[in-house]
Amino acid sequence: MGKLLFSGGTIVTSDGSFRADVLVEDEKIVSVGTDLFPDGAEVVDASGKLVMPGFIDGHTHMDMPFGGTVTADDWATGTEAAVAGGTTTIVDFSLQDVEGTLAEAIEEWEKKAEGRAVTDYGFHVAITNLTEEIKAEIPSLVQKGVSSVKIFMAYKGTPLYTEDEDLFEAMQIAREAGILVMVHAENGDVIAKLTGQALARDETAPCFHALTRPPEVEAEATGRAIRLAQVANTPLLVVHVSCAAALEEVHRAHERGQTVYAETCPQYFAFSYADLAREGFEGAKYVCSPPLRDEWNREPLWNGMRVGDLQIFGSDHCSFNYRGQKELGIDDFSRIPNGLPGAEERAMTLWTLGVNEGRISEGQFVALLSTNQAKIHGMYPRKGTLVPGADADIVLWDPELETTATVENRHGNVDYTPYEGMIFEGGPAAVYVRGKLAYSDGEVVAERGSGRFVERKFISPSMRSVMV
Ligand code: URP
Ligand code: ZN
Ligand code: ZN
Repeated sequence: MGKLLFSGGTIVTSDGSFRADVLVEDEKIVSVGTDLFPDGAEVVDASGKLVMPGFIDGHTHMDMPFGGTVTADDWATGTEAAVAGGTTTIVDFSLQDVEGTLAEAIEEWEKKAEGRAVTDYGFHVAITNLTEEIKAEIPSLVQKGVSSVKIFMAYKGTPLYTEDEDLFEAMQIAREAGILVMVHAENGDVIAKLTGQALARDETAPCFHALTRPPEVEAEATGRAIRLAQVANTPLLVVHVSCAAALEEVHRAHERGQTVYAETCPQYFAFSYADLAREGFEGAKYVCSPPLRDEWNREPLWNGMRVGDLQIFGSDHCSFNYRGQKELGIDDFSRIPNGLPGAEERAMTLWTLGVNEGRISEGQFVALLSTNQAKIHGMYPRKGTLVPGADADIVLWDPELETTATVENRHGNVDYTPYEGMIFEGGPAAVYVRGKLAYSDGEVVAERGSGRFVERKFISPSMRSVMV
């Protein structure tokens, strides 16, 4: 591969912005400095653009069986959507088969990704059946370059649901092995009870998805998981924090000095409970878990990002078509597959609602989307930063680019977009994965299969190092 010189742009890192050029050779950044000499390199004019480290999405679900169906995006269309939003690496959930091993889950996911992915990728393992054999297997994930497991406190009645004693034991094992435990924190027992009661009253519409999973149910499980992690003396990552009440639990943990990382997602800023309560069955397009909340939760969540209680912004991309998939729950909200597409819209949402509105800085934008993702998900400094030796994953961000989201201009494989009609101000003009142009001017140009597996190693970053 030849040499590339990104010239005339403004570099944005999690620590600040400065004018500099970036020289790339053989998939790597070789130097960053002012007025670099091309020395035979092809020059990419980055003037007027912000030059950022490629975004990392630590929370996607591609080609995943869930809710009685399989997600609409596979590894080709899902990563194409991601790269069109500036993402150069995803970390996806390989789902343990109830009868299978963790190694088999990873093998299965490798098969799904191989020849399809256009971004680089890693895997978490979502544990569904924590038998004695599986407990013994957890430490071996480290040798496979898999540094995190997800445990579900929700989804009672499915194999995902995990009792506290198993969650706690997984935390103990993970601590010894150097693995990060991620938790889906909603009280599955209470949700199952409230859901049964709602259905008995013939309350079947999509809005009851949220009404049977109130914020307190998320907050209670968040606090419980955090306390269990405290007893197990292990770091914890609480994913998809949706509301002020759950965030309070994270904040309290930080006040007492506990290592708790926390993620929030674009859907909790772009949409609200009102979308779930749309006319007819339209609300099904907005069913995800934890559910969309009342709008007043947004300001506390923005504040959580500013003060460092929330360090990462993941998409939780888990797409289902409206026709034939969301429709599975037409007579019963509990059968609507949970999840929204968002890999493409993640960065544009954060920029439009966050940076443009003065709620977060450009540096915080990069930290939430890239640098902190790399640190928490065990890829730093190979990913998440623009320094010599790092992979040349680069986003040329155009703060002037205006895009109106429509189902036709999305790059995924979903028959609707919850973002329909939303105007994004600022977006990626061009995206490079390891020095190769992957997306430019609305077109994905990367070859399917060009994405590579990234081995990850969890070295728990201090809370201080993931705050900006
Ligand atoms: O509704 C959601 N979030 N679907 C994806 C699975 C999960 O819990 O992350
Ligand atoms: Zn979850
Ligand atoms: Zn998820």
